[in-house]
Amino acid sequence: MVEYDKDAIVYPYITSYIRGEIPERHGILKELEEYAEANSVPIVQPETAKFLETMMCIKRPARILEVGCAIGYSAILMSQYLADGGSITTLEWDAQTAEIARANIEKAGLSDKIKVVLGDAKDIIPTLTGEYDVIFLDGPKAHYIYMLNDCIRLLKKGGMLISDNILYKGMIADDEHVIRRKITIVKRLRRFISAQMQRDELETVILPLGDGVTVAVKK
Ligand SMILES: C[S@@+](CC[C@H](N)C(=O)[O-])C[C@H]1O[C@@H](n2cnc3c(N)ncnc32)[C@H](O)[C@@H]1O
Repeated sequence: MVEYDKDAIVYPYITSYIRGEIPERHGILKELEEYAEANSVPIVQPETAKFLETMMCIKRPARILEVGCAIGYSAILMSQYLADGGSITTLEWDAQTAEIARANIEKAGLSDKIKVVLGDAKDIIPTLTGEYDVIFLDGPKAHYIYMLNDCIRLLKKGGMLISDNILYKGMIADDEHVIRRKITIVKRLRRFISAQMQRDELETVILPLGDGVTVAVKK
């Protein structure tokens, strides 16, 4: 019989297969995966991590903005494919978590490339200037909708807005899956997805990968 997990957006046996094909990591990324597992830190799922790496490998970005740094795992992962002289700005509002991220980034020898900015992304994003090749949203899901205009403003033409957990354990796709206390997040994520799909400036795809990912390219 096929396994069914109401929190998974694809059949668990498919996820198991995909994860089984992902080579084991080494060094700092492996250490951070183990730390995240032991300390219940939410980092990108393995298949989403692979997707991010593949996108970065295509894009070779010079400037990346990340919303939601946690312990620095996805920032370190993406930094592998930065263009020469490229940089990542990653936002984190929890001071202790930001300190752990900075220590990890320093240990990885990446302090010159990855800058962790402490603060609420909702306040920081409107103050940012310049153009980014990639913006990765992996922070406050209920606020993505309010960040969309600034993300479009900050993206270079051809730049990518990648957003994680967009299908939110399937709740986005079907009211029967929605947990009552998550209603606000679900409603706002649905608005965020629709807005991305409908904005003339963007070409957007919804992918049933990990917990759901959208990729919106600025035309
Ligand atoms: C899913 S984790 C990020 C995981 C990370 N991108 C990775 O894969 O390694 C989300 C992070 O966003 C942070 N966060 C939540 N709301 C935020 C906000 N409004 N501003 C900045 N950071 C926020 C949380 O403290 C948490 O560390």
